[in-house]
Amino acid sequence: MDIETLKNTLLQRVGESKAPNEVLKASEFRELYAKIPTLAPEERGAFGRQVNELKQAVEAAIQVREAELEESNVSPIDVTAPFDINAKKPTLLPSENGTTHPLMQEIQLVSDIFNRMGFVTEESREIDDQYHMFETLNFPKGHPARDDYDTFMTVETDKDGDPLIAPAHTSTMQVRSLIKYRDNLARGESIAVVVPDRVFRNEDLDARHEHTFYQVEGVYAAKGVNVGNLVATLQAFLEEYYGRALKTRINPFYFPFTEPSFEFSLECPFCENGCNICSQSKWIELLGCGMIHPNVLKAAGIDPEEYTGFAFGCGIDRLVMMKYGIEDVRHSESGKLNFLRQF
Ligand code: PHE
Repeated sequence: MDIETLKNTLLQRVGESKAPNEVLKASEFRELYAKIPTLAPEERGAFGRQVNELKQAVEAAIQVREAELEESNVSPIDVTAPFDINAKKPTLLPSENGTTHPLMQEIQLVSDIFNRMGFVTEESREIDDQYHMFETLNFPKGHPARDDYDTFMTVETDKDGDPLIAPAHTSTMQVRSLIKYRDNLARGESIAVVVPDRVFRNEDLDARHEHTFYQVEGVYAAKGVNVGNLVATLQAFLEEYYGRALKTRINPFYFPFTEPSFEFSLECPFCENGCNICSQSKWIELLGCGMIHPNVLKAAGIDPEEYTGFAFGCGIDRLVMMKYGIEDVRHSESGKLNFLRQF
């Protein structure tokens, strides 16, 4: 290798090294020095000068590289420290390394649609008590419907000695939302809240069942609210979400906290004569809903003689799967990049 080529190689090595000084110890240098005594005496002077120039060029590059490394070596940011206007900007990770999870994008959209319809968004909790999971919702202790919820319990207990729970539905927020916005009623306004959040069930897992999933709860109360308002609200939401006119239907159902209760179905948006997504039935059961039970209104300190309301609880994963034709609910919690990168 001639000296010029060697110089380019070494300068490149310096430019890429985290410890550029080490390049001076390169074996190529030792070989050059070892070569000097083997040369004819009249050649040694010129060769020695070339080697020296090479070394100086490498040393200069090392200085530049060290300054560069110093610059990028920003210490971790102390968020409690006073703001220093002279501080260098931290080096951020390239943004293409991360994106918002598709479910989070959809939850944002669901929330936006309801906000435009006048609902406020609240968050639920990831550990709650049996009072909010069951009692406020008209499931007294020992009520058989408690078992329907496959609820995860913790070993810790609440003040009544009952195990705390990982909420199995967002309905835990019904009475809290009614209480929080109860003053709206006295002002002649309605209570309109949605709670899109995470819920947990001890399910046998398959393509349609996951232990962790998302629901959006809706709670609406005012004077003279009726089932027509409930159906119209859900229909308007779904048509906005799917961006097209849809046929829906309600069937009678049972929940302790709504009376009457319904199962709300959507005409399959994917087929006309039955397909895999709707299990050949042409209808997709989408959510549970109903008129808020008088006992639930009472638990929130609202007079059921004066006010009525509706509530619904819709699985968000289900909505999203139908929107994009996703075949297995387990993709969303899998963390698989080849799934996530399609969104
Ligand atoms: N919480 C119910 C469920 O998860 C759904 C529901 C919500 C039904 C609100 C009625 C009213 O099954």
